[in-house]
Amino acid sequence: MRKMVLLAAIGLVALAAPANAQGSKELVVYCSVLNEWCTLMVQEFEKKTGVKVTMTQKGSGETVTQLRAEAANPRADIFYGGVGDQHMEAAEAGLTVEYRSPMLAELHPWARRQAEQSGHRSVGIYAGALGFVWNSELLAKKKLDEPKCWADLLKPAYKDEIQMSNPSSSGTAYVTLATIIQIMGEEPAFAYLKKLHANINQYTRSGPAPVRNAARGETTIGINFLHDGVAEAAAGFPLKVAGPCEGTGYEIGSMSIVKGGKNPENARAWYDWALTAEIQNKAKTVKSFQVPSNMKASAPEQMPKLDQIKLIDYDFARYGSGVERKRIITRWEKEVGSLPK
Ligand code: G6P
Repeated sequence: MRKMVLLAAIGLVALAAPANAQGSKELVVYCSVLNEWCTLMVQEFEKKTGVKVTMTQKGSGETVTQLRAEAANPRADIFYGGVGDQHMEAAEAGLTVEYRSPMLAELHPWARRQAEQSGHRSVGIYAGALGFVWNSELLAKKKLDEPKCWADLLKPAYKDEIQMSNPSSSGTAYVTLATIIQIMGEEPAFAYLKKLHANINQYTRSGPAPVRNAARGETTIGINFLHDGVAEAAAGFPLKVAGPCEGTGYEIGSMSIVKGGKNPENARAWYDWALTAEIQNKAKTVKSFQVPSNMKASAPEQMPKLDQIKLIDYDFARYGSGVERKRIITRWEKEVGSLPK
């Protein structure tokens, strides 16, 4: 015992290791932020607690599909990151459990609202606005104007110059559809998306992929979360970002505890820890520049401030509903995604 206390004092054993009823030292995390951030979270949690974390990185739409498929025999304990709409959907489908973290009081109102609207089956961990990301060198070489408004994206000059992700797999793309519908109304929005199709060179599986492709000169423009563009700019690529002039939607990146997970105590320990300012402040060290949900964490300087972007009053309750999501995506696949190029 004395040896344990001594070792703990010099930090060689992890006294914080949560011991649940079965004494589990494991945790399974489905992670929908960028891989670098997922890896950082795993390493830091393992270091702090001694718990062995198994992590799988996937887009938020794909993660919900997987949680549904595994509902009879859940494999995951935590669904970490990815757009809040998908966490709302998981909550509505009964795939996640209610949990009120003692950390709630430290969070921004928008993060607590996500908790309230999901019946405390989810909570906000970060926020980020949607917009345009472009490769400024390519744009200049092709003598194209910078995109400023959603309306600009329909310009014939942008034919095959724009990339966005596929809403079936990507939360980013789903927020894009929901945003355009909220700004224009559903019928004009679908007319717009059909015209936009002519200018899209590829619908990628993963949300952040268009940004990475723009960075490498494989597309000129991407429709993305602005922080993903800022991350590649910080890595030295010639990328610029802007919020659309008509206004834009945003995500409340969220986290939920999976119903029927095998390691519930460790899941709650991860949940409380992931809401601390200390760990949220580390996201920017791996170039994840979202606005953190803990009020004591500092917003990354590199990011355009949310109050400088024209944000719409995004209806999270409506667009987080699984029925609504399915209806919108099915309509998009039928009327837009399947159109010939
Ligand atoms: C990136 C962004 C996150 C976002 C996620 C959604 O990782 O940095 O802010 O939540 O993409 O991914 P998805 O593939 O579902 O669009």
